[in-house]
Amino acid sequence: MLYSGIRKINVEKMDVLMGDNVMKAELIVNRYYEIGDVDDRLYSSFAEHIGRVVYEGIYEPGHPEADDMGFRQDVIRMVKQLNIPNVRYPGGNFLSVYDWEDGIGPKSERPVKLNSAWNSIETNQVGIDEFQEWAKRAGASVMMGVNLGTRGVEDACNCLEYCNGTSRTHYADLRRKNGFKEPFGIKTWCLGNEMGGIGQPCRKTPEEYGRLAAETAKMMKRIDPEIELVACGSSHRNMPRFGEWELTVLYHTYPFVDFLSIHQYYEKGSRSTEDYLAKSVDMNRYIKSVAAMCDTIREIKGLDKQMNLSFDEWNVLGKGIKQDGKGVYAPPLFECSYTFEDALVVGCMMITLQNNCDRVKIACLAQLVNAIAPFVTEKKGKLWKQTIFAPFFYSSLFGRGKTLLPIVECDCYSTKEHYNIPYLETSVIHRETEKELVVFAVNRSLAESMELEPVFEHFEGCRLIEQIELYSDDLAETNNADKERVMPNIVSAEQSIILKKHSWNMLRFQY
Ligand code: AHR
Repeated sequence: MLYSGIRKINVEKMDVLMGDNVMKAELIVNRYYEIGDVDDRLYSSFAEHIGRVVYEGIYEPGHPEADDMGFRQDVIRMVKQLNIPNVRYPGGNFLSVYDWEDGIGPKSERPVKLNSAWNSIETNQVGIDEFQEWAKRAGASVMMGVNLGTRGVEDACNCLEYCNGTSRTHYADLRRKNGFKEPFGIKTWCLGNEMGGIGQPCRKTPEEYGRLAAETAKMMKRIDPEIELVACGSSHRNMPRFGEWELTVLYHTYPFVDFLSIHQYYEKGSRSTEDYLAKSVDMNRYIKSVAAMCDTIREIKGLDKQMNLSFDEWNVLGKGIKQDGKGVYAPPLFECSYTFEDALVVGCMMITLQNNCDRVKIACLAQLVNAIAPFVTEKKGKLWKQTIFAPFFYSSLFGRGKTLLPIVECDCYSTKEHYNIPYLETSVIHRETEKELVVFAVNRSLAESMELEPVFEHFEGCRLIEQIELYSDDLAETNNADKERVMPNIVSAEQSIILKKHSWNMLRFQY
């Protein structure tokens, strides 16, 4: 599928040479050095009842694009275009204050409440009844959360029974009464959200949460043994009890859950671009260290099962984000204009997730629409794409298959915050059915273009068939409703592969 509005450009090596210095980078890829299979859910998303994600995002009755249930079809088309397989719901911090029963049954009887996580008005016109239908229409599965903040085990079990119950029991019958004869069949469930987070409603200590999550997990699996459960990890790597949280929670929950969650947002703040672009190296270290903690507990407990990771909130935060809903309906929370520089960091983070696909099986770009999202809806109006849309779009469309180990030979740089950062960030996906290798690559250099020399071992006759680049001279360039200035280009290359300075690229090779 083509990216609407994509431009074609001719890049001759000489054009680049005249304007820039060119460094060299070698990429060696061997067919048999695999990292792992990419789970489709690496390209998941997240829809929280926060700001304008649900209301005015996915749901806007009266909008010219609204369908019979009030869902914006332009948003549904976008979800399909991005091939998003799975969407986490309903929060986020909102989950820790949510009563799921407010959002079921006749809409006219649903209570209007304060969303106390974000100080806004929650009309409950969208709840699990509607959201699972929206997800169906968008071709995605739902990854549901249970409230382990203000609520607890019993409520989690009731919610599961309502959604997945097949017997003639109270909550399954309530679902039937509300018009849903068939169970929703939700497979993956989050045991709360960021339960150790500083601002989390009803925050827990690792010990408190570990015990609660383990007991909830046991009860939920009695009701539906087919479900997968995600226990909360730290809310980010710099949390005061990072590490202690993971080890304690895993100690209690390991036999009963299937994933541990990781969350991380990066922001430019006052740091240099070089440091900002290096943040994916932190992310890589975060993933590796949490995986090591999982393996440590596995060994201590003498178990065989591998604990996988659910990176179910990741993104960058743009400037000027508001977090107080000031008591109104659908306030513009967490909205920002992403820069081109932000898109490069998202590109690097996506590459890092692909290179850790042996442990990270679920990753949710947070969030889906409007709030720190790849696209934005205007009330009663149109929809436009942020700068970060392109790397996510191409990764989701072409980044499925097996990730191969990229051996990179290139120059590195060091900064105040980071040491030995390679200028080239890259991942290689083997799409066997298509006989394709897809290389995602970011040139982190702010000054020099890069000539990439790939060496593909055991791939006879491998040749470049397409190069897509995301580039702007101006790192601060943004998109808006009137103009999507940061757009991908189709590069018609000559013999050598040039990655422009500070650019994101996708290179497709066929063999
Ligand atoms: O995505 C916005 C918020 O960030 C989520 O509600 C919370 O889980 C995280 O801290």
